[in-house]
Amino acid sequence: MEIKACLFDLDGVVVDTARYHYLAWKKIADDLGFSFSEHDNERLKGVSRMESLDILLEIGKIKVDLKTKEELAATKNSLYVSYIQKMTPDEILPGVIRFLDELHNSGILIALGSASKNAMSILDKINISQKFDAVIEGNKVSKAKPDPEVFLKGAIELGVDPHDCLVFEDAQAGIDAARNGGMHIIGIGQPENLTNAEFVIPGFETLNMNQLRSWYL
Ligand code: BG6
Ligand code: MG
Repeated sequence: MEIKACLFDLDGVVVDTARYHYLAWKKIADDLGFSFSEHDNERLKGVSRMESLDILLEIGKIKVDLKTKEELAATKNSLYVSYIQKMTPDEILPGVIRFLDELHNSGILIALGSASKNAMSILDKINISQKFDAVIEGNKVSKAKPDPEVFLKGAIELGVDPHDCLVFEDAQAGIDAARNGGMHIIGIGQPENLTNAEFVIPGFETLNMNQLRSWYL
Protein backbone atom coordinates (compact mmCIF):
# COMPACT_ATOMS: atom_id res chain seq x y z
CA MET A 1 0.00 0.00 0.00
CA GLU A 2 1.13 3.50 -0.80
CA ILE A 3 0.20 4.73 2.69
CA LYS A 4 3.15 4.45 5.11
CA ALA A 5 1.86 6.72 7.89
CA CYS A 6 -1.47 7.94 9.23
CA LEU A 7 -1.76 11.33 10.93
CA PHE A 8 -4.72 12.02 13.17
CA ASP A 9 -6.25 15.29 14.22
CA LEU A 10 -7.32 15.11 17.88
CA ASP A 11 -10.41 17.25 18.55
CA GLY A 12 -13.40 15.68 16.80
CA VAL A 13 -11.41 12.73 15.41
CA VAL A 14 -9.95 10.82 18.36
CA VAL A 15 -12.22 12.38 21.00
CA ASP A 16 -15.35 14.49 20.88
CA THR A 17 -13.66 17.56 22.39
CA ALA A 18 -14.99 19.57 19.42
CA ARG A 19 -18.21 19.58 21.50
CA TYR A 20 -16.39 21.08 24.52
CA HIS A 21 -14.75 23.76 22.36
CA TYR A 22 -18.22 24.64 21.06
CA LEU A 23 -19.81 24.80 24.52
CA ALA A 24 -16.99 27.00 25.84
CA TRP A 25 -17.20 29.43 22.90
CA LYS A 26 -21.01 29.45 23.17
CA LYS A 27 -20.73 30.59 26.79
CA ILE A 28 -18.48 33.48 25.68
CA ALA A 29 -21.03 34.41 22.97
CA ASP A 30 -23.94 34.17 25.44
CA ASP A 31 -22.09 36.45 27.88
CA LEU A 32 -21.43 38.93 25.08
CA GLY A 33 -25.13 38.83 24.16
CA PHE A 34 -25.29 37.05 20.80
CA SER A 35 -26.22 33.56 19.68
CA PHE A 36 -23.66 31.12 18.33
CA SER A 37 -25.00 28.06 16.53
CA GLU A 38 -23.43 24.66 15.81
CA HIS A 39 -23.50 25.67 12.14
CA ASP A 40 -21.40 28.78 12.95
CA ASN A 41 -19.08 26.53 14.95
CA GLU A 42 -18.01 24.64 11.80
CA ARG A 43 -15.90 27.70 10.93
CA LEU A 44 -13.95 27.40 14.20
CA LYS A 45 -13.08 23.73 13.93
CA GLY A 46 -9.34 23.14 13.52
CA VAL A 47 -8.62 26.86 13.86
CA SER A 48 -6.25 28.18 16.59
CA ARG A 49 -7.62 29.69 19.80
CA MET A 50 -7.03 33.36 18.87
CA GLU A 51 -8.24 32.92 15.30
CA SER A 52 -11.35 31.17 16.63
CA LEU A 53 -12.00 34.20 18.84
CA ASP A 54 -11.60 36.54 15.84
CA ILE A 55 -14.22 34.52 13.93
CA LEU A 56 -16.55 34.45 16.95
CA LEU A 57 -16.32 38.24 17.39
CA GLU A 58 -16.93 38.70 13.66
CA ILE A 59 -20.09 36.54 13.92
CA GLY A 60 -21.27 38.64 16.90
CA LYS A 61 -20.26 41.87 15.07
CA ILE A 62 -18.30 42.89 18.16
CA LYS A 63 -15.04 44.83 18.28
CA VAL A 64 -12.82 44.70 21.38
CA ASP A 65 -9.27 45.79 22.22
CA LEU A 66 -6.34 43.37 22.47
CA LYS A 67 -6.43 43.15 26.26
CA THR A 68 -10.13 42.19 26.24
CA LYS A 69 -9.41 39.63 23.52
CA GLU A 70 -6.71 38.03 25.65
CA GLU A 71 -9.11 37.95 28.62
CA LEU A 72 -11.87 36.36 26.52
CA ALA A 73 -9.48 33.72 25.16
CA ALA A 74 -8.27 32.96 28.70
CA THR A 75 -11.87 32.66 29.98
CA LYS A 76 -12.76 30.31 27.13
CA ASN A 77 -9.67 28.20 27.81
CA SER A 78 -10.37 27.92 31.58
CA LEU A 79 -13.86 26.71 30.80
CA TYR A 80 -12.54 24.26 28.20
CA VAL A 81 -9.86 22.99 30.60
CA SER A 82 -12.54 22.43 33.27
CA TYR A 83 -14.35 20.14 30.78
CA ILE A 84 -11.25 18.18 29.76
CA GLN A 85 -10.11 17.68 33.36
CA LYS A 86 -13.05 15.32 33.76
CA MET A 87 -12.31 13.26 30.64
CA THR A 88 -11.73 9.51 30.82
CA PRO A 89 -10.67 6.85 28.24
CA ASP A 90 -14.41 6.13 27.76
CA GLU A 91 -14.58 9.30 25.69
CA ILE A 92 -12.30 7.98 22.94
CA LEU A 93 -14.55 7.81 19.89
CA PRO A 94 -15.86 4.38 18.81
CA GLY A 95 -13.47 2.26 16.74
CA VAL A 96 -10.44 4.54 17.24
CA ILE A 97 -8.35 2.20 19.44
CA ARG A 98 -9.16 -0.85 17.30
CA PHE A 99 -8.23 1.03 14.12
CA LEU A 100 -4.96 2.39 15.62
CA ASP A 101 -4.04 -1.16 16.64
CA GLU A 102 -4.82 -2.47 13.13
CA LEU A 103 -2.58 0.22 11.60
CA HIS A 104 0.22 -0.58 14.03
CA ASN A 105 -0.06 -4.31 13.34
CA SER A 106 0.14 -3.57 9.60
CA GLY A 107 3.40 -1.65 10.06
CA ILE A 108 1.87 1.78 9.41
CA LEU A 109 3.31 4.63 11.50
CA ILE A 110 0.94 6.83 13.49
CA ALA A 111 1.17 10.51 14.44
CA LEU A 112 -1.04 13.09 16.09
CA GLY A 113 -1.33 16.47 14.34
CA SER A 114 -3.34 18.86 16.50
CA ALA A 115 -3.57 22.65 16.74
CA SER A 116 -4.47 22.38 20.41
CA LYS A 117 -2.14 23.53 23.18
CA ASN A 118 -4.18 21.27 25.47
CA ALA A 119 -3.47 18.14 23.38
CA MET A 120 -0.89 16.60 25.76
CA SER A 121 -3.20 16.95 28.71
CA ILE A 122 -6.08 15.31 26.76
CA LEU A 123 -3.85 12.40 25.60
CA ASP A 124 -2.87 11.94 29.22
CA LYS A 125 -6.48 11.95 30.49
CA ILE A 126 -7.62 9.39 27.92
CA ASN A 127 -4.42 7.35 28.31
CA ILE A 128 -3.65 6.99 24.60
CA SER A 129 -0.16 8.61 24.14
CA GLN A 130 1.57 5.24 23.74
CA LYS A 131 -0.37 4.59 20.51
CA PHE A 132 1.40 7.45 18.68
CA ASP A 133 4.89 7.25 17.16
CA ALA A 134 5.01 11.06 17.04
CA VAL A 135 2.93 13.83 18.59
CA ILE A 136 2.82 17.31 17.05
CA GLU A 137 0.56 19.70 19.00
CA GLY A 138 -0.19 23.40 19.32
CA ASN A 139 2.97 24.23 21.27
CA LYS A 140 5.19 22.78 18.52
CA VAL A 141 3.78 24.76 15.60
CA SER A 142 3.82 28.43 14.67
CA LYS A 143 1.44 28.37 11.69
CA ALA A 144 -2.19 27.35 12.11
CA LYS A 145 -4.10 25.02 9.78
CA PRO A 146 -4.77 25.39 6.80
CA ASP A 147 -0.99 25.83 6.79
CA PRO A 148 0.42 22.29 6.48
CA GLU A 149 3.15 22.83 9.15
CA VAL A 150 1.60 20.55 11.81
CA PHE A 151 1.29 17.60 9.40
CA LEU A 152 4.63 18.19 7.65
CA LYS A 153 6.40 18.20 11.03
CA GLY A 154 4.64 14.90 11.79
CA ALA A 155 5.84 13.41 8.49
CA ILE A 156 9.41 14.57 9.20
CA GLU A 157 9.36 13.15 12.72
CA LEU A 158 8.14 9.81 11.34
CA GLY A 159 10.62 9.94 8.44
CA VAL A 160 7.88 9.43 5.83
CA ASP A 161 7.40 11.31 2.55
CA PRO A 162 4.24 13.53 2.74
CA HIS A 163 2.86 11.79 -0.37
CA ASP A 164 2.81 8.50 1.57
CA CYS A 165 0.88 10.04 4.49
CA LEU A 166 -2.88 9.84 5.09
CA VAL A 167 -4.54 12.45 7.31
CA PHE A 168 -7.82 12.02 9.24
CA GLU A 169 -9.56 15.34 9.88
CA ASP A 170 -12.99 16.63 10.96
CA ALA A 171 -12.33 20.28 10.05
CA GLN A 172 -12.22 22.03 6.70
CA ALA A 173 -9.09 23.94 7.82
CA GLY A 174 -7.42 20.58 8.54
CA ILE A 175 -8.44 19.06 5.21
CA ASP A 176 -6.98 22.10 3.47
CA ALA A 177 -3.79 21.77 5.57
CA ALA A 178 -3.38 18.12 4.53
CA ARG A 179 -3.91 18.99 0.87
CA ASN A 180 -1.49 21.91 1.12
CA GLY A 181 1.06 19.42 2.46
CA GLY A 182 0.49 17.04 -0.48
CA MET A 183 -1.02 14.30 1.70
CA HIS A 184 -3.95 11.94 1.26
CA ILE A 185 -7.01 12.89 3.26
CA ILE A 186 -10.09 11.24 4.75
CA GLY A 187 -12.71 13.53 6.28
CA ILE A 188 -14.52 12.55 9.47
CA GLY A 189 -18.08 13.88 9.61
CA GLN A 190 -20.75 14.82 7.10
CA PRO A 191 -19.82 15.25 3.39
CA GLU A 192 -21.86 18.48 3.17
CA ASN A 193 -19.53 20.14 5.72
CA LEU A 194 -16.24 18.89 4.23
CA THR A 195 -14.99 19.55 0.74
CA ASN A 196 -11.82 18.29 -0.94
CA ALA A 197 -11.35 15.14 1.14
CA GLU A 198 -10.72 11.96 -0.89
CA PHE A 199 -13.33 10.14 1.20
CA VAL A 200 -15.64 11.22 4.03
CA ILE A 201 -16.67 8.74 6.71
CA PRO A 202 -18.87 9.31 9.79
CA GLY A 203 -16.28 7.74 12.14
CA PHE A 204 -13.95 4.77 12.59
CA GLU A 205 -16.50 2.12 13.46
CA THR A 206 -16.81 0.92 9.89
CA LEU A 207 -13.21 1.55 8.80
CA ASN A 208 -10.70 -1.29 8.70
CA MET A 209 -7.50 -2.20 6.84
CA ASN A 210 -9.37 -3.99 4.04
CA GLN A 211 -11.38 -0.86 3.30
CA LEU A 212 -8.24 1.29 3.47
CA ARG A 213 -6.38 -1.05 1.11
CA SER A 214 -9.29 -1.01 -1.36
CA TRP A 215 -9.10 2.80 -1.45
CA TYR A 216 -5.34 3.29 -1.52
CA LEU A 217 -3.83 0.16 -3.06
C1 BG6 B 1 -8.14 22.45 17.44
C2 BG6 B 1 -9.63 22.62 17.58
O1 BG6 B 1 -7.81 21.11 17.52
O2 BG6 B 1 -7.45 23.16 18.46
C3 BG6 B 1 -10.00 24.09 17.63
O3 BG6 B 1 -10.29 22.02 16.51
C4 BG6 B 1 -9.19 24.79 18.73
O4 BG6 B 1 -11.39 24.20 17.88
C5 BG6 B 1 -7.70 24.57 18.50
O5 BG6 B 1 -9.47 26.19 18.73
C6 BG6 B 1 -6.84 25.20 19.58
O6 BG6 B 1 -7.08 24.54 20.79
P1 BG6 B 1 -6.59 25.05 22.20
O7 BG6 B 1 -6.87 23.87 23.11
O8 BG6 B 1 -5.12 25.32 22.09
O9 BG6 B 1 -7.38 26.26 22.54
MG1 MG C 1 -10.60 18.60 14.78
